[in-house]
Amino acid sequence: MAVVPAAIAGFFNIATPEEWVDEACRRIPELLLDHANCELKAASTALGFLYRYPDRTALAQRMSRLAREELRHFEQVRSIMQDMNVPFDRLTASRYAGGLRAAVRDDEPHKLLDLLLVGAIIEARSCERFAKLAPHLPSELGKFYSGLLASEARHFEHYIALAKTECEVSDDEVEARLTELKQLEAKLITDPDPQFRFHSGKPSGSEPL
Ligand SMILES: [Fe+2]
Ligand SMILES: [Fe+2]
Repeated sequence: MAVVPAAIAGFFNIATPEEWVDEACRRIPELLLDHANCELKAASTALGFLYRYPDRTALAQRMSRLAREELRHFEQVRSIMQDMNVPFDRLTASRYAGGLRAAVRDDEPHKLLDLLLVGAIIEARSCERFAKLAPHLPSELGKFYSGLLASEARHFEHYIALAKTECEVSDDEVEARLTELKQLEAKLITDPDPQFRFHSGKPSGSEPL
């Protein structure tokens, strides 16, 4: 039985709606497709930090390792898709990451702080969803998702640690901003969402692929 790691369970005030878990179990091909996209985007986000902040050694080393690990996850999801005969198809992005990124401020160091906190939140929610889904999935897929929990929890902790060490702001400011971004995130995962994706909100009626 997959358990949400303690650091993640204590982080969110709002859990993934049960309706989303039920919907995901009915739409496994789309879940996998979007999950593959999410891993690729996680790698690309990590690379984005390398390009945007090349002079920050600790950040660069951490993000380079993270990009490699996320690409490894991408390869694993693609292999599982092949094993389960899920063809690759293009999917539009969900509102989730775009909704969070829209809240990122333009001025430094707030931009770096917000980008890192958004990264932390996305990792944490992914981890929470893997844990919720794992017991309900076909056994091989459930095992794979249980195995991803630890790495996503670790990624969450790295993002939070970097927010505290790289942004020259107080821990209180980090916490205050995190509270604001978590409120926005809670809306994105609980408001009705006509689109089904890995990070979508409460299902409101679209048909499976
Ligand atoms: Fe990942
Ligand atoms: Fe991750």
